[in-house]
Amino acid sequence: MSRVAYVDGCYSDLRRATVPIEDRGLQFADSVYEVIALVAGQLVDFDLHLARLKRSRDGLGLPAPMTDAGLRVVLGEVVRRNRLRDGLLYLQVTRGQAPRGHAFPAAPRASLMVTLRAWTPFPGSLAAGVPVVSTDDLRWRRCDLKTTGLLPNVLAKQRAHEADAFECWMVKAGVVTEGASSNAWIVRDGSVHTHPLCDDVLGGITREVLLELAAANDIEVVERAFRPADVETADEAFLTSTSSFVVPVIAFDGSEVGTGAPGPVTCRLRDLYRNHVSGPAG
Ligand code: PDD
Repeated sequence: MSRVAYVDGCYSDLRRATVPIEDRGLQFADSVYEVIALVAGQLVDFDLHLARLKRSRDGLGLPAPMTDAGLRVVLGEVVRRNRLRDGLLYLQVTRGQAPRGHAFPAAPRASLMVTLRAWTPFPGSLAAGVPVVSTDDLRWRRCDLKTTGLLPNVLAKQRAHEADAFECWMVKAGVVTEGASSNAWIVRDGSVHTHPLCDDVLGGITREVLLELAAANDIEVVERAFRPADVETADEAFLTSTSSFVVPVIAFDGSEVGTGAPGPVTCRLRDLYRNHVSGPAG
């Protein structure tokens, strides 16, 4: 079945969906985005994603393409037309089309594009854990905004790909900030450590929900940065993102983490998150 995309008022076959050549998202990465998981027909933590989209837009002074109610209708329609129960929904808001010039256009009209692709939540292939490598964090100073200026992330992910790793954790001023497309965590003596929120990291929605689940289940969380050397001596490590949820990290830069197998705290958090997404029976 062909995929349906939405671009500025039009639903069309994805292969024919286009954006204008002078769209500022294309020319300046002047745009923000969200990725939302669709599980059993429901968009997971939709309101949290909507709130982050607004924070990202506000950070760039980017107008809303439509009301939140309108956005809900469009996203629901994209889900309906693609006839998927499980998928990854991508939405991007750009500062729209204007003759090329760095400063904002006088009366920008934001553009909205939405796609949905088939995807399997909690695939068995990730349960056994994944290797991660590291690289310098080359990004700008507003990593808290979810913008499409992702070239350093792309290079980091390519480094992971070439090293047969799943993810690449980025290191800035001697500490791990986050992954190319995920948040980074270690477990030491039963407590869970992750970088505090600041403009060096994206406030992941999965991170946010997992912190609440940990607190509600008496798992201690320390929001403090850790060094690459701490990963090598940690009991466990894992990563979180919308597209992978909670994934055990079993090797870091070629060395085993902990026992080299998913650890008990990671597995517990993964189960808690799975229940959050699909309900206890899921
Ligand atoms: N990644 N940090 C970065 C740099 C990211 O790109 C992402 C998301 C995260 C995790 O955020 P969340 O839990 O809200 O997905 C952290 C993309 C969207 C993904 O792979 O899902």
